[in-house]
Amino acid sequence: MGQNKAEAGDTIVTIHLSKTKLWEVDSEHPQESGLFEAAALLQAGGTVAFPTETVYGLGADARRTEAVERIFEAKGRPSDNPLIVHISDRAQLAELTAPLEGASAALAAQLMDRFWPGPLTIVLPVKPGAVSPRVTAGLATVAVRMPAHPVALRLIAASGCPLAAPSANRSGRPSPTLASHVRDDLSGLIDGIVDGGAAGVGLESTVVEVDGDTVRILRPGGVTAEGLREIAARVEYDAVAAPGAGGTATAAEAESAAAEVQTPRSPGMKYAHYAPQGEMRLVKGELGAVSAYIAAEVRAAQARGERTGVLAFAEHAARYDADCVLAVGSLAQLESAAQGLYHALREFDRRGVQRIWAETCPEEGIGHALMNRLSKAAGHAVVYV
Ligand code: TXA
Ligand code: MG
Repeated sequence: MGQNKAEAGDTIVTIHLSKTKLWEVDSEHPQESGLFEAAALLQAGGTVAFPTETVYGLGADARRTEAVERIFEAKGRPSDNPLIVHISDRAQLAELTAPLEGASAALAAQLMDRFWPGPLTIVLPVKPGAVSPRVTAGLATVAVRMPAHPVALRLIAASGCPLAAPSANRSGRPSPTLASHVRDDLSGLIDGIVDGGAAGVGLESTVVEVDGDTVRILRPGGVTAEGLREIAARVEYDAVAAPGAGGTATAAEAESAAAEVQTPRSPGMKYAHYAPQGEMRLVKGELGAVSAYIAAEVRAAQARGERTGVLAFAEHAARYDADCVLAVGSLAQLESAAQGLYHALREFDRRGVQRIWAETCPEEGIGHALMNRLSKAAGHAVVYV
């Protein structure tokens, strides 16, 4: 498997952080030498970004604290936000988790049968000592998922490590859906990037916990509530993950509302995420009123000399006349909008946009996760017209 082979617990090899290796891997034929070099770096305690079917992840051996710490350092991530552990084989669960009991065990197994590999992360009791405490942030649980991406599955299997992997962006930036996004954020801070082309879903996995016959959604994502209802008798939402949770009028109101909400069960949900550098607002209402409002706001901002942006569905993009109008995908096919969201947010930054207005969509199917991320990107600032 390469010369850097090391067992868990070995001394970590010296890693030259100024140099980030880049391997291009054909997603259809991931059996390539670059992948094995990447796997060897992971075995040696390094950090490697890789594509998944949701977004790019930044992986490290979940069992080794020094390796996991490199993830937190590179991302600038708050240490109380636990990481998802990625596996390539269900047999790895026995190493990582303690058994669930009764109905919960049966339901968790059904979820895995139906959605793995795929964009569903399941929070399970952690087996004491199985992963670094930095991965669980001191919780008694560990979040596990098996990604549905041939490159990710190959890399995990070749490394022989359960891989702790958050999204491969600097904390607070939009998640990366292309290897170039990872390079922009983390070049020089990580050991390598496996470029397997565009990620698929474009939004992160759905994070759930299982409680008897109930699935509780802690973070909406690639697997929809409708899909979960096909398996589970009951599907609930943690307060911060429910549809409409981001629907307040201004950022200040959202902040005071958030203070009243109980602590989210998924710690990452409390952080402002995915934010572009420009100030963003969501505009909700009937289409004619939305476009009239945005057009007036754009004119006023331009008169003040500000660089303006509009994030619109493809069907409506021609209605707007801002400095940067980005069509995020089709309202009739929200999967395409999910795929394009993070790239669009990064594009506003690249073009130096200072004020952004965004259209909204119904919070159904993947539209729920899409609005959850958009609302966070806007600091929950929503204008009703
Ligand atoms: O699609 C994804 O899930 C991507 C790709 C790379 O797999 N990963 C990702 O990781 O989004 P990250 O670190 O950006 O988000 C992990 C989320 C956070 O909201 C975190 O709080 C939550 O999962 N989480 C992790 N462990 C948890 C646990 N034990 N209990 C509750 N929530 C947990
Ligand atoms: Mg993330």
